[in-house]
Amino acid sequence: KIVPVLLSGGTGSRLWPLSRELYPKQFLPLCSDRTMLQDTALRVSAQQPGSMQSGALAEAVFAAPLVICNQEHRFLAAEQLRQSRCTPRGIILEPAGRNTAAACALAALAVAADDPDALLLILPADHEIRDAEAFRRAVGIAARAAQAGRLVTFGITPTRPETGYGYIRRGHSMDEADGAYNVAAFVEKPSLEVAERYLAEGSYAWNSGMFLFPAARLLAELERHAPAVLAACREALEQGARDLDFFRLDAAAFAKAPSISIDYAVMERTDRAAVVPCEIGWTDVGAWSALWDVGNKDGEGNVIVGDVLLEGARDCYVRSENHLTAVVGVENAVVVVVDDAVLVADRSQAQDVKRIVDRLKAEG
Ligand code: GDD
Ligand code: MG
Repeated sequence: KIVPVLLSGGTGSRLWPLSRELYPKQFLPLCSDRTMLQDTALRVSAQQPGSMQSGALAEAVFAAPLVICNQEHRFLAAEQLRQSRCTPRGIILEPAGRNTAAACALAALAVAADDPDALLLILPADHEIRDAEAFRRAVGIAARAAQAGRLVTFGITPTRPETGYGYIRRGHSMDEADGAYNVAAFVEKPSLEVAERYLAEGSYAWNSGMFLFPAARLLAELERHAPAVLAACREALEQGARDLDFFRLDAAAFAKAPSISIDYAVMERTDRAAVVPCEIGWTDVGAWSALWDVGNKDGEGNVIVGDVLLEGARDCYVRSENHLTAVVGVENAVVVVVDDAVLVADRSQAQDVKRIVDRLKAEG
């Protein structure tokens, strides 16, 4: 049985001014008319049309998802899932984010308690996947590798020397699972120089940030490579309380978890990693430039959302809420207008929007 785990704890600061602390990007309709959390939940819902059609998926049946988010967002998460007719297995509420190793540990502890053989499908709630069927086929392949005790990653063909991603070097193909490979090396966020070399070598894939973990195996690997994370999460759950769908963690216990990502804590160190290379139309919707990448473009390469008028604009992303926004004779710009703020940025520097958010925070 595959239990989807929806990681919904990010703040999405590079998507300011739309994404805010109280309302981060995963709860916004950025890529479709559903929110990113809703799209992520629907992708792995049991009722998904087509999910029963492909042969590879005959055994990949999805159980109800487990959601992990900040406690501030509990009603947003619960209400959005309800609207999508998704009944979660539970919603784990973090008093403060302690990064993805802790979130994965919480999921493994919570699920393995009832179901030690479960496979956890870790899904960041802020990814766009254009080919959901190909994605579910890849999960079907990954399930066989995970049943053989592997920590499975999904490999994306790299298109640029991105330094914000993990890189996976593919080893020999696995005997137990056709389409899955041993991982010869996993390198999280390399320097630009190293990323350029990996891209040129051609044997590396990007780590998508989605994983399929056998719950019991993940616990064993955490015990070995990140025991302090596991101990803090165990205590936070034991001292916490269940309140309807919500698992409340003990804040003092959870604060003791070192803040480290699952990539550094486990994936770089384990000798049990596997990779399923896949072509699924994947995008990490991290910054406005990614929304231009995935958006539908007009003849001049512009993506517009809302009440927007363009004259002589090219390759721009323009989004306007409750205002009429006009853009004239500009290229490669990002323009985002909301009630109380306006962003104008060069598309190639969209990552630096985070600096504005940091300054706003510092200035209170
Ligand atoms: N619940 C919860 N709690 N979720 C979290 C937390 C947390 O403390 N921290 C991060 N997340 C969620 C984020 O919202 C995001 O959806 C996902 O976990 C991944 O975290 P990021 O912080 O966005 O990771 P990253 O982008 O730097 O790197 C990861 O993703 C890349 C692909 O997008 C790594 O797995 C890389 O190897 C990978 O290439
Ligand atoms: Mg990310």
